[in-house]
Amino acid sequence: MRVVLLGPPGAGKGTQASVLIKKYKALHLSTGDLLREAVKLGTAVGKEAKTYMDRGELVPDEIVARMITDKLRSAPTQNGFLLDGFPRTGKQAEILDAALAELSLPLELVIYFETGAATILSRLTGRRVCRQCGANYHVVNIPPKKAGVCDACGGELYQRTDDQEATIKNRIEVYNRQTKELIDYYQAKGLLKKVSGDLEVEQLFGIVSGVLKSAGLV
Ligand code: AP5
Repeated sequence: MRVVLLGPPGAGKGTQASVLIKKYKALHLSTGDLLREAVKLGTAVGKEAKTYMDRGELVPDEIVARMITDKLRSAPTQNGFLLDGFPRTGKQAEILDAALAELSLPLELVIYFETGAATILSRLTGRRVCRQCGANYHVVNIPPKKAGVCDACGGELYQRTDDQEATIKNRIEVYNRQTKELIDYYQAKGLLKKVSGDLEVEQLFGIVSGVLKSAGLV
């Protein structure tokens, strides 16, 4: 499968990607995760990216596009890939098309998670992430067995700095201004399938799996 997961912040793209790759073994590439890793390591890219991420703004196209195209060229793609959080602008979508054409790995499907504003806000304000292994929880929807501790590795759970209400509002505005246009872009290419991001994790996973099956990708 060569698939893009598209949708607003908090739509559940990362959560679905992690269950999908467990089952279907594709490569999961999340620009958000790659950027947070660069910030943690204190690289030059990480230092520059942090100034944008903390405000909920998009990191410049050239930086994220290079990150993803380098990975697509070097990482194993024999079981396909799931792109999560990329592309996010028209320019990024064009760079992706060109890179995939060069690699003879054209995109097969874009799954758009249509998600209501109330869902987005409650999911993002309640999200907690493991500092050690990156596993995602939600204080109400998907709580860990022990508050503040990761079920998988025992690591400490923390709240992302961009998951504060004011930054979330800006991320939604940025999404509406810069990313939403990709729905039309991929619809025009005949690649777009819509699902409801408002559903609970298992139910949504069943629907996404059905979409992948109908497209002959799994
Ligand atoms: P990024 O990390 O990509 O953030 P995002 O797109 O804002 O997406 P999120 O990770 O917030 O949401 P998600 O849809 O993955 O939801 P999740 O599954 O975690 O980007 C962060 C920043 O990096 C950007 O603001 C930007 O600065 C920069 N950046 C990244 N990519 C870039 C790019 N291409 N170009 C430029 N800049 C870029 O779920 C959220 C919560 O809800 C969790 O707590 C989860 O447990 C819970 N949950 C998930 N699904 C469900 C469900 N079905 N039911 C109930 N709860 C659920």
